[in-house]
Amino acid sequence: MRTQYCGEVSESLIDQEVTVCGWVHRRRDHGGVIFIDLRDRSGLLQMVFDPDNPDMFMMAEKVRNEFVLRIRGKVRHRPEGTTNTNMPTGMVEVLGQELEIVNPSETPPFVLDDELVSEEMRLRYRYLDLRRPEMLQRLQLRSKIATFLRNFLDEHGFIEVETPMLTRATPEGARDYLVPSRTHAGEFFALPQSPQLFKQLLMVSGVDRYYQVVRCFRDEDLRADRQPEFTQLDIEASFLDEATIMQLMEDMMHKLFARILEIPLHDPFPQMTYAEAMQRFGSDKPDLRIPMELVDVSDVLQDVEFKVFSGPAKDPQGRVAALRLPKGCELTRKEIDDYTKYVSIFGAKGLAYIKVNEWAKHREGLQSPILKFLPDEAVDAIMQRTGAEDGDLIFFGADKTSVVNEALGALRVKLGHDRDLVERGWKPLWVIDFPMFERDEQAKRWVALHHPFTSPKEEHLELLATDPGACNSRAYDLVLNGTEVGGGSMRIFRPEIQQQVLKHLGIGEEEARDKFGFLLDALKYGCPPHGGIAFGLDRLVMLMTGAQSIRDVMAFPKTQSASCLLTKAPSPVTEKQLSELHIRLRKSAVE
Ligand code: AMO
Ligand code: AMP
Repeated sequence: MRTQYCGEVSESLIDQEVTVCGWVHRRRDHGGVIFIDLRDRSGLLQMVFDPDNPDMFMMAEKVRNEFVLRIRGKVRHRPEGTTNTNMPTGMVEVLGQELEIVNPSETPPFVLDDELVSEEMRLRYRYLDLRRPEMLQRLQLRSKIATFLRNFLDEHGFIEVETPMLTRATPEGARDYLVPSRTHAGEFFALPQSPQLFKQLLMVSGVDRYYQVVRCFRDEDLRADRQPEFTQLDIEASFLDEATIMQLMEDMMHKLFARILEIPLHDPFPQMTYAEAMQRFGSDKPDLRIPMELVDVSDVLQDVEFKVFSGPAKDPQGRVAALRLPKGCELTRKEIDDYTKYVSIFGAKGLAYIKVNEWAKHREGLQSPILKFLPDEAVDAIMQRTGAEDGDLIFFGADKTSVVNEALGALRVKLGHDRDLVERGWKPLWVIDFPMFERDEQAKRWVALHHPFTSPKEEHLELLATDPGACNSRAYDLVLNGTEVGGGSMRIFRPEIQQQVLKHLGIGEEEARDKFGFLLDALKYGCPPHGGIAFGLDRLVMLMTGAQSIRDVMAFPKTQSASCLLTKAPSPVTEKQLSELHIRLRKSAVE
């Protein structure tokens, strides 16, 4: 039907005849001449129709936005003054010789390149939204990235193996999506939160090197970088250690960025312990592009009369930290109030600050509601440690360590973006030495920081019994510009250690048998040492395309409330279907 994609028509085809197909992006009538910008997935091409050919001209007058056309014509230079260097095809136009309306279109519900269209409209008519060149380019890049990764792994001896979608719950920390069984009344499949257990079983089977581009399902609170179904590049390998896996993955990332974006990433990726990341950035996924750090000031505030500070400063579970904002004196009262409100989301009870107007004048040069509570030594230490200069502002967080880290960690990122402090470029890093367990204070129990199949550090094995909170794991996360793009670990491959870890998580022997009996059994039949990692493919593509949300790099994403506006899923089902599935709805769900 066509000789070229629209975007391929360039000056090299001058005076040649081409046939192109596509959608009407825009039609303009210019005193007897009609211009049509024809669009296909490769870009736009300007078509010209003049009245010399009256039949065709009349037809061109009839076309509207998003009509599907097939046009034959002759490529020519655009007249001087009408060229457009912003467009790859901006030096040429095609003089129409034959026009076929392949299919008309109703007036679309929005103009494709209108930036004010709500995301709701875009998702409802996603097939139209995807016509936007930006969206098609993202899909294309996503495909390129996935193909590159597949090829890389294939070249390194990894085998792609598919694992079941209808399965048992896999504990990755989110709620499961359940699927009722018709043939087993009252029983449910769970959609996998990840193929974690299957890939470990494949190692027991001797697959040795496995990968899969695989859909995962997690019923959790959604955010810009979280969707209920998303894609992992899932990887597992036997008879190697974390250093080898991390090295291989780093190599893969270097080559991926070099090939797709022509960007050299820092070599090697820096590594940072979890403890250091929390200390300096209040986060286990620090965005190293933001040149601000949390600074501990607990020790100099233990004896001050300001209880808000001295309390947490003295508490072993507490922390008082400072965060210096360069040029922060510019902040207005209102802006500081807004940041105070922002940190309250994370449980912070306030946001003390000192404005450094002129340090040469010492106390007189500082401005702060809490200055009167602080002795000179404390002020000096704060100034010295934060390295504050005239014009800067120092924020303070004082609370339980977890609250201070979360609040100031988030504030650091927000300030970085609000104040335009985010450096350009790519900052990958590995975060290592995670604790095995985190204390859930509300439920009064330990929860796995990664998942329960992550191996403790060999030298920390004894701590498992004596001090689980101090026991570190062999887990590693790959963080890129403040986003966790991948996470993995060396796994437990001895059944008795697996039992012990499950016990600490409050999963007794009986429950462990019931939930993970198949894994515990498999570990007994000659399981090799193994480990792996999973990358969030959507997140990686989001970063590489510069998209703001993973929704922008998925063809058909779900909304914030986990529904599909296009197909209107989820939706009610018939009484007959429910009854076949042995399900009766609760009253509140029916009403
Ligand atoms: P984890 O739970 O860290 O590890 O997931 C791996 C990566 O998947 C991405 N990710 C998500 N992306 C979009 N939406 C979500 N809701 C979502 N949740 C996670 C993140 C994350 O780094 N089985 C282990 C991996 C392993 O140990 O090998 C696992 O699933 O980028
Ligand atoms: P107050 O004594 O409650 O008026 O607080 C004095 C200053 O300390 C205000 O600027 C508060 O925002 C701040 N503040 C109160 N509690 C905290 C806290 N837990 N961490 C940091 N700053 C706080």
